[in-house]
Amino acid sequence: MAARPPSPPVEPYRIKVVEKIRLLTREERESALQRAHFNLFNLTSDEVYIDLLTDSGTSAMSDRQWGALMTGDESYAGSRNFQHFERTVKEITGFPYILPAHQGRAAENIFFSSMVKRGDIIPNNMHFDTTQEHVRRNGALPLNVAIKEAYDPTSNHPFKGNMDLPMLQRILKDEAGKVPLVMMTLTNNTGGGQPASLENLREVSRICREAKIPFYLDMCRWAENAFFIREREPGQASLGIAEIGKEMFGLAEGATMSAKKDGLVNIGGFVATRDPALFDKMRELLIVYEGFPTYGGLARRDLEAIAVGLKEAMELDYLSHRISQVRYLGKILDEAGVPFLHPPGGHGIYLDAGAFLSHIPRENLPGQALAVELYREGGVRSVEIGGVMFGSGSDGKDRMELVRLAIPRRVYTSSHLAYVAEVVKSVFARRTSVKGFKMAAASESLRHFTAHFEPL
Ligand code: F0G
Repeated sequence: MAARPPSPPVEPYRIKVVEKIRLLTREERESALQRAHFNLFNLTSDEVYIDLLTDSGTSAMSDRQWGALMTGDESYAGSRNFQHFERTVKEITGFPYILPAHQGRAAENIFFSSMVKRGDIIPNNMHFDTTQEHVRRNGALPLNVAIKEAYDPTSNHPFKGNMDLPMLQRILKDEAGKVPLVMMTLTNNTGGGQPASLENLREVSRICREAKIPFYLDMCRWAENAFFIREREPGQASLGIAEIGKEMFGLAEGATMSAKKDGLVNIGGFVATRDPALFDKMRELLIVYEGFPTYGGLARRDLEAIAVGLKEAMELDYLSHRISQVRYLGKILDEAGVPFLHPPGGHGIYLDAGAFLSHIPRENLPGQALAVELYREGGVRSVEIGGVMFGSGSDGKDRMELVRLAIPRRVYTSSHLAYVAEVVKSVFARRTSVKGFKMAAASESLRHFTAHFEPL
């Protein structure tokens, strides 16, 4: 008897506004790929049917958020919306000093420019591309210190975002005086949207306290991380996301945030700290780069939408549906034997391109080849997270060759995801015919955004 297909998760919202999408013909898709030099960042959105490039800034805002936009108080200084935003971030995180910024990397710029100097070393569970770049541009070395299971796509470890504690201790001892801060990225985006446990966060916090080094969080997807803690960590099931968050943030000195993820908005971010001297330093830079501290590069109405969105992202019915959507896609792919990074992460499925296209050697960019093929097959846009994005083994570790299917928040329904699964399955069925790529033109840093590719 055939196995019953997994049941689709039912959306805890209904649709009030729709946006038309259209699948181009195969010929149109082929010529779009040619025009884009096989870099999916170069496609126009009209050329894409299901856009899983990123979960960042692609959320559907709620009726309450759209309503909040109409209450924008566009005063340059002291806007009501800033006060609401600041109150909300303080309430959620407990951090006393908050600076808004136009997005996560702007917060990173202010933060790392203030904290890091030439010759420093920054440990993180895994750096995301922009984080890594900010560390480098300030003359420091980004080090990835995730547990070894994080590099094994088949491991079902429940907290693959955890830090390798002995390795962290060794770095702090061997490189004493060179480490101005330790950071953890929640969830670990580069490593598959995988969470860190409270237990691991407590230990990292303790190690940092003992070494007198501040511990910061990249809290872009903190609510998804808290959901996994609630579900997987003993003793947490009866707690709400707010309570788990209080404990997580209580362990840290501050955080950077892209509100484009767990803030459920299309633009915005912030940096937060407990350190008044650092706050003063960052505020000066903020005024130069982003604007006055009560708007930080945003329209004030945007701050209002963030204040509402941060709270909505903590609601259990929303989070539970979101994580089930990712699992639903994962379950269909599992049943078809499609290799992806296990367990399914918080914001997407990361196809294991190395295993999927095992006949394509690493230097021929299997991740890029798979991403191109998913677009060619069904107009699905994904993103390569592997040799193209990060180069090969720049941190001395084996790089996984992944293709991320990032699920935008509240945007696609279960039937869209079932369609995506069919597209992936069709490519999987004819995988041996897929060919590799070479990079024809590339910039020095963050090359994945602009590189050109040529099929082999
Ligand atoms: N940190 C993490 C962990 C991220 O995933 C991102 C962005 C940033 C910082 C920077 O935030 O985009 O608001 O400037 N990630 C997006 C992605 C772009 O597709 O994963 P930003």
